[in-house]
Amino acid sequence: MIRRIGLLTGGGDCPGLNAAIRAVVRRAHGHGIEAIGIRKGWRGLLEREAMPLSLDSVAGLLPRGGTILGTSRTNPYQDEASRARMLANIRELGIDALVAIGGEDTLGVADKLHRDGVAVAGVPKTIDNDIRGTEQTFGFDTAVAIACDAIDRLHTTAESHQRVMVVEVMGRATGWIAVQSGIASGADVVLAPEFPMPIEEVCALLEQRRARGRDYAIVVVAEGAKPLADGREIVVRGEEVDAFGHPRLGGIGQVLAREIERRTRHEARVTILGHVQRGGTPTAFDRLLATRMGAFACDLLAQGRSGQMAALRCGQIEAVPLEVAAGGIRTVDPALYDLARSFFG
Ligand code: F6P
Repeated sequence: MIRRIGLLTGGGDCPGLNAAIRAVVRRAHGHGIEAIGIRKGWRGLLEREAMPLSLDSVAGLLPRGGTILGTSRTNPYQDEASRARMLANIRELGIDALVAIGGEDTLGVADKLHRDGVAVAGVPKTIDNDIRGTEQTFGFDTAVAIACDAIDRLHTTAESHQRVMVVEVMGRATGWIAVQSGIASGADVVLAPEFPMPIEEVCALLEQRRARGRDYAIVVVAEGAKPLADGREIVVRGEEVDAFGHPRLGGIGQVLAREIERRTRHEARVTILGHVQRGGTPTAFDRLLATRMGAFACDLLAQGRSGQMAALRCGQIEAVPLEVAAGGIRTVDPALYDLARSFFG
């Protein structure tokens, strides 16, 4: 019998998190279950930082970006002492079951916790849209809309100055945002981590476009893309890694713009969209998806089901084992990239 659910958000924030929190709390209340919020992701379970979540505390959350619980990239399985502390704190907080809202790393921890005997349900989120087992994550639709709006704006200034505008979007290991915003905004080249493209080919496409009389261009690049220069991958990443081993990215757009300018002699500029893609109000689609997934995860726990996450499959929300999400990332469908490619140049 579940009397108290703990709820946390882990990893990078994204639009829709607050809508999911609201849905879990409202649904739990409907089941006669109390909900408490764990602050700052898994760190809150190591430091025993929790807050009550009443119906009042989740009122008005649907349009609000970020997460009222806070988040972090803490890994409670980094050593045995942390794991033991987390399990002890779950007991001391009187938590019977946990809803973990997060990306691949957070859902991976949730899977381990389930194997450690704690009742857990997952809710997949990330602007990167790279979680296995679900056809979409919330946060992604908003990020694509923001990127698309930015690219639309860059079109007019690119045209006025006859420039190549390189737009760097997020996407650590996958090019979902780059490819979908690129298709939706009519990008002339899109570079994604899954499909390494030689810079020579990028330049050839831009020249082909000039030959058609189009003397400006938009190049969209995912931050994790590794274009090839003279047959070798260009890798731009920070030295430090987070608790899950991910380096900080950002800067490939700069390198690409420099190379394009050097090789083609066409003026190039770069715009890095960065965290703008993660902030602010979620789209209606993301609010709806977050609400459906949050409510579903709560229902799973109320039914005594653990080790599952809410997933979007053929328009329905279904249960998928957490181990599916923990088993790797979901890369861009080559057919989708082919569609983008058919509009290049
Ligand atoms: O995982 C989502 C994401 O936005 C990635 O696209 C990006 O590489 C990363 O988070 C940035 O993380 P941080 O907020 O720690 O800079």
